[in-house]
Amino acid sequence: MGIQFDDMNDEERLVTPAASLDDEAEATLRPRTLRDYIGQEKARDSLSIFIEAARGRKEPLDHALLYGPPGLGKTTLAGVIAHEMGVNIRVTSGPAIEKAGDLAALLTNLNEHDILFVDEIHRLNRAVEEVLYPAMEDYAVDIILGKGPSARSIRLDLPRFTLIGATTRAGQLTAPLRDRFGVVLRLELYTPEELTRIVTRSASILDIAIEGDGAAEIARRSRGTPRIANRILKRVRDYAQVRAEGVITAPVADQALGMLEIDGLGLDAIDRRMLRSIIDNFTGGPVGLDTLAATIGEESITLEDVYEPFLLQIGFLNRTPRGRCVTRRAYEHLGLTYDDGQTIDNGQLTIN
Ligand code: ADE
Repeated sequence: MGIQFDDMNDEERLVTPAASLDDEAEATLRPRTLRDYIGQEKARDSLSIFIEAARGRKEPLDHALLYGPPGLGKTTLAGVIAHEMGVNIRVTSGPAIEKAGDLAALLTNLNEHDILFVDEIHRLNRAVEEVLYPAMEDYAVDIILGKGPSARSIRLDLPRFTLIGATTRAGQLTAPLRDRFGVVLRLELYTPEELTRIVTRSASILDIAIEGDGAAEIARRSRGTPRIANRILKRVRDYAQVRAEGVITAPVADQALGMLEIDGLGLDAIDRRMLRSIIDNFTGGPVGLDTLAATIGEESITLEDVYEPFLLQIGFLNRTPRGRCVTRRAYEHLGLTYDDGQTIDNGQLTIN
């Protein structure tokens, strides 16, 4: 499939300038080297080998797909890869690339070995995706000049680049696209120990006074996610500054987190609303995701991508073919009595 020449578009709006990736403060917290990147040991170990091998051969890194829940550092990791490879990175996203010409503009502006980072790559439209296939495989795009019978197609060679795609939902990628990634890395939720190191590092960069126990308290209640940990750190700093002596100790962190309605395990108001709704309205489940989302007024996709991964990980939620079910452990955390629908009467088991 080719690209109409007049589809070509100004590439400016497609690219996210590095400084506005999130806010600038967050950008300063991003590690630049693999050495400084905490956690994701498996992904890091694999990458360090692939990067060293590619550099040794003076080749671009193979196309890489990073997937996993939001906030785990996919964009950060792409930046680290670019730094380690000694190349430039262009950051864009699936929904920003509306037309085939948009993608062609991005690709033709790359330099040899550069990285094109496409966040939310599962949201690329079909026409754009088809331009990606020859680009990834043969480093070429086919451009159609003119219209109708006189139309001609020319093949434009591209620099040998690396595509890094990021997605929260690898299952939504089409098979042809998924198959063109030579490296596929799954990012996992972080352990409390890893998050403690991240919080301590961030506090040091932002010049925040924090004790080890204070960092551990924030880490423990950040749902395995650095983005959440760094966000909480800043709010706890505000609290420490106004209500305490400016130092984040464990009790100060605990009080601040209480004010933010984040409980002992890191669940926030929406997590709890989700669990309570399944319990109160659907007797603990199973309930379909869309029904649940409509009941609590959130988007299904938000529940699935943002809230579910952690609730599944800590064993508060089960996904069954008939829908989501709340577990006994979640009832107990919420201070409720679990009724498994079975009663034992005189040694006789009855399933209600
Ligand atoms: N900040 C956010 N994510 C990080 C990570 N994985 N390592 C170090 N600092 C981080």
